[in-house]
Amino acid sequence: MSQDNLKKAVAEAAVKFIRPKLEKDTVIGVGTGSTANCFIDALAAIKDEFNGTVASSEASAKRLQGHGIKVHELNQIDQLAFYVDGADEANERLELIKGGGGALTREKIVAAVADLFICIADDSKLVPLLGTFPLPVEVIPMARSHVAREIVSLGGKPVYRNGFVTDNGNIILDIHHMDIGRPIKVEEALNHITGVVCNGLFARRPADKLFLAGPEGVRILG
Ligand code: A5P
Repeated sequence: MSQDNLKKAVAEAAVKFIRPKLEKDTVIGVGTGSTANCFIDALAAIKDEFNGTVASSEASAKRLQGHGIKVHELNQIDQLAFYVDGADEANERLELIKGGGGALTREKIVAAVADLFICIADDSKLVPLLGTFPLPVEVIPMARSHVAREIVSLGGKPVYRNGFVTDNGNIILDIHHMDIGRPIKVEEALNHITGVVCNGLFARRPADKLFLAGPEGVRILG
């Protein structure tokens, strides 16, 4: 099966999982990226069975609205039943690297609010150790050099994502060759650097469920 078909399969499995739990007032958090796009497309078929969504990026909001799915401001919402999003890497503890698409800060905010965080991915994303995929960090533009030096002192190699501006008006540094043997420690150390808005390690708040699509079907961890 192609990677695109695996993404569609895992997105459909997530819709099938949440569908019986939906109520008329349920709001669903929706992530960003190609797998999240498949989820949005699958969600369109049942758009009358829930209240609406909160999007983790402008791009996802646009796609949702294109399907006629309501998009709420997070501040207007008291409860978010689910957050469904992809990942760049996941381990068996359901800790993730996210932010390849640059939406990590809003993704982490929406994940923080959600009762159940369902990560959807093809099984190539499951790794024994996080960190082969460069770890994205969103940074206030004027702090770029300072944050880069601090990252070097933590043992990483920061690379400026040239020409990229986040939905929040900030820049991204992608950290290569970082030892992420202890993901919570690394997530916290990066958060403590002044000028860092957010980093793409989801370890303090990992996914609750990881849906993985492979040639034999979709399996669920968690
Ligand atoms: C977006 O900022 C990312 O966190 C995505 O969720 C992640 O990069 C997965 O994207 P794909 O589904 O396109 O691989």
